[in-house]
Amino acid sequence: MLNPFDIVIFGGGGDLALRKLLPAMYRAYQEGNLPKGSRILPTVREENKQKEYIETAHQALQSFLSAGEFNEKDWQAFSEFLVPVVVNVTDIDDNWDKLKAILDEDASDKSRVFYLSLPPAVYGRCCEILSLKSLITDTSRVVVEKPIGYCGESAEEINGKIAQFFSEEQIFRIDHYLGKETVQNLMALRFSNALFENLWDAKSIDNIQISISETVGLEARAGFYDKAGALRDMVQNHLLQLLCLVAMESPHKLNANSIRTEKLKVLEALRPLVDADVDDNIVRGQYVPGDLQGKLVPGYLEELGEGSSITETFVAIRAHIDNWRWSGVPFYLRTGKRMNKRCAEIVVEYKPVSHNVYDDSVGPIQPNRLVIRLQPEESIQLTLMSKRLDNLEMQLEPVTLNIELSEQYKNGFHSDSYKRLMLDAAANNPALFIHRHEVRQAWQWIDPIVARWQEKGAPALYRAGSWGPEGADELLAESGHVWFNAGEQ
Ligand code: BG6
Repeated sequence: MLNPFDIVIFGGGGDLALRKLLPAMYRAYQEGNLPKGSRILPTVREENKQKEYIETAHQALQSFLSAGEFNEKDWQAFSEFLVPVVVNVTDIDDNWDKLKAILDEDASDKSRVFYLSLPPAVYGRCCEILSLKSLITDTSRVVVEKPIGYCGESAEEINGKIAQFFSEEQIFRIDHYLGKETVQNLMALRFSNALFENLWDAKSIDNIQISISETVGLEARAGFYDKAGALRDMVQNHLLQLLCLVAMESPHKLNANSIRTEKLKVLEALRPLVDADVDDNIVRGQYVPGDLQGKLVPGYLEELGEGSSITETFVAIRAHIDNWRWSGVPFYLRTGKRMNKRCAEIVVEYKPVSHNVYDDSVGPIQPNRLVIRLQPEESIQLTLMSKRLDNLEMQLEPVTLNIELSEQYKNGFHSDSYKRLMLDAAANNPALFIHRHEVRQAWQWIDPIVARWQEKGAPALYRAGSWGPEGADELLAESGHVWFNAGEQ
């Protein structure tokens, strides 16, 4: 069991804190994973907000927890862990001494986590004040959220500022996809089963698709999203992290350093896409009004309330990893908003058998396919060819081995990536966090794409409720491939 810790949530009244961080801590409490003596210290800017905070948290949990998770008895006990504090994070003359006094009440070796649920522009100043006010102890850590910058240069600037006050070992950069239980299962699948690892390279695999489709649109984030777009919001982090976990070599141990080293090698081996390569290998799109699951939804521009914008809400990329293992295997990365279904999955399509011993009468022999679905339900499916058993003829057809992980582990455990990552930060376990070098390397691959887009073209339009622009299908068709689309081809 974890030792008691203090977690200060800067921006405690913000959307992320109320929607994700408090529910995560409440779940940890319900499962018995929030050690007694721990404290959760959300910061707010005004005194009246502090007085109201417990009620704000109460309402947030009722709204954002899933059905059946909230109950008054657990809430009463959980609320004892909450210690709201008034602090203006950029003003050194504000209440920092009070915060320090509260933190110093407990033993000096108690784990201290500073969660910056703040705009990245103020990360530097907040860390500076933490240092000037002597709040950073040997057992302190800082947690920061993506987006870390808008390009390589701004990311370096932010990382550089934080690094003036915290060592790299104390900095925990969150990519919440790494906290998803099934994403960790990806490593388990690869590195604890000889079956897959021996068939995990260009000799056996034809292509790999990594796709995160969303049905939501802009939500309440127009200001941020219109500046960022899908490439920065989803590809630079979540999709590239998934790509790393799928493509990396086995780390020699499952510790943070070895995993990061292997992930970094994948990012370094990603073939750069510059100038005309960008046009040939990437399709970007923006949604227009359409029918999404029987409901007419507005287009991006209508949601934005602006007459024009060339921000992409969809990206499909054909990427290559130039190393021995993956030479010649296309990795198709795709993400988009207002798509047909909410689904995140990794689809591994194997090569056809090397020699077909059957004649045409048995039916087409389809290559094997492994589908690792991360959400909405968590499952692993392996499609194999099999003889039909319902007649004497020799006829083959694909059958699917289907492991429904969400069904198998129905014990009330709520898989919640923020819970996992906050507890890992408190336990000083950095394995599922991003190293500064990974951030740098990922931007190095993304920056030339953005540069090309700034000088050329605009996104193709796609209907809300579709699977994206036609160009995305054509991108795969060039090599005889088809998007799996949550099994709907
Ligand atoms: C966030 C993005 O990082 O991930 C959002 O900023 C996106 O735009 C979200 O909707 C998707 O996360 P999940 O866990 O719901 O797939």
